[in-house]
Amino acid sequence: MDVDWDPLDSPSSSSMSFERDRHVRFLEMMCQLLPSEYQTQEINRLTLAYFVISSLDLLGALDRVDKDAVAKWVLFFQALPGSNSELNNGQFYGFHGSTTSKFHQDDNGVSVHNGSHLASTYSALAILKIVGYNFSYIDSDSILTSMRNLQKPDGSFMPIHIGAETDLRFIYCAAAICSLLENWSGMDREKAKEYILNCQSYDGGFGLIPGAESHGGATYCAVASLRLMGFIEDDILSKNGSFSIVNVPLLLDWSLKRQATDGGFQGRPNKPTDTCYAFWIGATLKILGGHKFIDENSLRGFLLTCQSQYGGFSKFPGELPDLYHSYYGFTAFSLLREPGLNPLCFELGISDIAGLGIGPA
Ligand code: FPP
Ligand code: ZN
Repeated sequence: MDVDWDPLDSPSSSSMSFERDRHVRFLEMMCQLLPSEYQTQEINRLTLAYFVISSLDLLGALDRVDKDAVAKWVLFFQALPGSNSELNNGQFYGFHGSTTSKFHQDDNGVSVHNGSHLASTYSALAILKIVGYNFSYIDSDSILTSMRNLQKPDGSFMPIHIGAETDLRFIYCAAAICSLLENWSGMDREKAKEYILNCQSYDGGFGLIPGAESHGGATYCAVASLRLMGFIEDDILSKNGSFSIVNVPLLLDWSLKRQATDGGFQGRPNKPTDTCYAFWIGATLKILGGHKFIDENSLRGFLLTCQSQYGGFSKFPGELPDLYHSYYGFTAFSLLREPGLNPLCFELGISDIAGLGIGPA
C-alpha cells in the first residue's frame, strides 16, 4: 500500500477540546515501548517514567498500570551503602537514573557503581508516592544523610557526588526529596535560601545561578523551593510582598509579562512560546497567588494548538508530541482546572495526593 501522508499535514493537529482518552492511549503506548528517539535519554529512564506515571495519575487513569510492579521496578534503582560508615564517604546514596548508570565507568576506565542523581531520586520518590508505596519501607536515612554531601558551602547542590554543574535545579530536587520524605535533615535550608535569593535578577525573575539571565524554569525552581522549605507564606500577595524575602511585585511583573500575544508563555523575553512554560510560570504564579491575572482563555487556546492528534503535547504548535511537553501540557490543563483532571500540588509537580505535607514541620 502506498502510504503518502505527513502527519503534520493532516486536517488539524489540534482540536478545540482537551482529548483525555487520546492522551491516555498515548501514555499506554509509551508504557509499552518508547520510540527510538528516546535512546539517547536512556540515562534518564526514571524521569521518563515519572512523566508517564504522573501523567496517568493526573488524568485519573492510574489503573492502567500495575502499581506494585512499578514500585518494584523503581526500587531496583536505589543505591544503598555497604554500611552506615559509608554515608560519610562523600558519595550520595539515592537512585540511579537507569540500568546503564549502575554499571558506568569513569574516564580512567574505573567502575563507578554509584551514579545516584538528585533528579532521578526526585523522580523515583515522586513515582513511589503516586503509586501509594509505603514510605516507611524506604531507607530514607541513607538518602538524607548522604544528600548533605552534595550541598556546597554556598548553599547550592551538585546533582551527583562526582560533581557537575550546581544550580537552582538541584536545590529544587533536594527540597522536593526532603518534602516527600517529610524530613529536612538532608539539607541546610538557610544556606539554600541564601543561594536562591542571590539568583533573583534586576528584572524580578530568577536565573539558574547568581548573575544569570532570568528564566521560567529557574524561576519555578526558586519559588517552589522557597515554598517547600517554608519561606513563602500562603497569603503572600495579600501582604503585597512587603514582608517577603523576595521582591514579589517585580517577580509577578516579570512572570506575567511572559504570556505572549498568542496566549502561550515563553521562558524568557524574545523567545518563542512553548507548552512547558505554561507550567513553569503558571505554577510559579499559583504559588504567589498571581494566577488570576493570566489570560486563561488565550492560554488554553495556545495549548490546544500544541495538542497532538496522536495524544500528548508538543513543544510548539503542530509538531509531534514528546513526553516532557506532554507532561507539562497536562499539568498546565490541571492548573486551568480542566474537568476530569486531578488537581496539582504546584510545589511538587505531582497530583495533590491527600496527605502530602509539603512544608517543614
Ligand atoms: C533553556 O533552554 C533552559 C534552561 C535555562 C533550564 C530551565 C530549567 C528548567 C526547565 C527547570 C528544570 C527543573 C528541574 C527540577 C530539573 P532553551 O534555551 O532551550 O529554552 P528557551 O529557548 O525556551 O529559553
Ligand atoms: Zn519546553
